[in-house]
Amino acid sequence: MASSEPRYVCQECGHEAHKWMGKCTGCGAWNTLVKETESADVEAQVPDLSTDGQNGTAAAQNQPTQLTEVEMEGESRLKTGVDELDRVMGGGIMQGSFSLIAGDPGIGKSTLMTELGGYLPGRKILYVTGEESKRQVKLRAQRLGVDSDALYLLAETNVQEIANAVDDVAPDLLVADSIQTIYRPDLTSAPGSVSQVRESTASLLKLTKEREFSTFLVGHVTKKGTIAGPRVLEHMVDTVLYFEGDQNHAYRILRSVKNRFGAANEIGVFEMREDGLREVPNPSEIFLSERGYGVSGSTVVCSLEGTRPILVEIQALVTPTSYSTPQRTVTGFAAQRLQMILAVLEKRAGLAFSDHDVFINVAGGVKLEEPAVDLGVAIAAASSFRDIPADTGSALIGEVGLGGEIRTVSRVEPRLKEAAKLGFDRAVVPENNLDRIAGDYDIDVTGAQQLKEVVDVVL
Ligand code: TYD
Ligand code: MG
Repeated sequence: MASSEPRYVCQECGHEAHKWMGKCTGCGAWNTLVKETESADVEAQVPDLSTDGQNGTAAAQNQPTQLTEVEMEGESRLKTGVDELDRVMGGGIMQGSFSLIAGDPGIGKSTLMTELGGYLPGRKILYVTGEESKRQVKLRAQRLGVDSDALYLLAETNVQEIANAVDDVAPDLLVADSIQTIYRPDLTSAPGSVSQVRESTASLLKLTKEREFSTFLVGHVTKKGTIAGPRVLEHMVDTVLYFEGDQNHAYRILRSVKNRFGAANEIGVFEMREDGLREVPNPSEIFLSERGYGVSGSTVVCSLEGTRPILVEIQALVTPTSYSTPQRTVTGFAAQRLQMILAVLEKRAGLAFSDHDVFINVAGGVKLEEPAVDLGVAIAAASSFRDIPADTGSALIGEVGLGGEIRTVSRVEPRLKEAAKLGFDRAVVPENNLDRIAGDYDIDVTGAQQLKEVVDVVL
């Protein structure tokens, strides 16, 4: 592209266009294209990661190496001592790793990062704050009971200055809070724009890999086109963590959506309290603690989040509608999936929801995406529809197919173990899973083939 020619960059996905358009042709989002200009000499200075190491001095060192000859010494993980965080990171923070922690503003990212300062005694942490003053960070640290002389604060947003501070401090861990405030002075676009976010990240990434410390980059999730979303960074970084949760609930879930050093989709559960985030080592107990007994529309599912089975209550409320189009309202579950399940219940189990509103709520502000929770959602809806409480001692596990069949789920054994641990008497699992269960889990296991069967047995 010719120098200083304007380009229009989608702030959601980073797609570039030559002229402004209302809709991004890359991701289909509306009103996300923003004009960004760069001058010729600036483009030349932008480090291009794709050609990195293929020119100049780096090329000399960059020879192919036999797998067996690759040096592994120095590969170590920093254990934070907080099991919930270590698990999500795949067993600790890998030295030299570059992680992105993303989430809605106010969810607790800065809190978690400040607490990290207290978790790693003897390790130097450089906390770069672009949003708050040092005093504000200190105030928060005091509130959190973090008082470490190995925690260095820097209120700075210029990447070059951050690099200088890294030279001075030589940290084991760098926290950059947040990437939307950090900028490279050689680029003309504003901090928070896609170019700035991407290039600043590229610079910090290079610094991290060269000096072999670890970096946590904090990123706010886009509020419709105002700031560049962390999505444009996901492919660049080693680990992407999402900090999710409902602001109105105390529980926060840290989820690894990508991890080059461990299992993806692993979750850690925290509770936000007055004095900061506390880990929740037994999330199933918490998510079931407010469960209603003897009430229709409540079931318990066992969802596998990463390697960890979690029992969660599903609540359904089905009431006659007063609208021409009945309402479908879901929290913590996909609305489309619910539509499908209701259609299957109608066609295969004879429960017609067409003149009923259906509300589904996953307790504790948890978001469930695994198909194995389908059965629990279906039975909760059926239970409320018939106004008959479902058996409270049963945990429901199974994916619902369009034919009303209960389909096999992955790794049923850890789920059974968790249900037995929490005192459930019975688990309903897909029939086809039965012969894959090797151990004895101190729980009655019932195999199910058809949704109708389960509706008849459990209700
Ligand atoms: P914060 O970490 O600043 O959010 P983020 O960096 O993701 O934008 O957390 C902000 C919220 O957390 C704020 O509403 C206050 C609350 N909070 C607590 O409840 N307890 C605490 O100890 C702290 C430090 C914050
Ligand atoms: Mg913050």
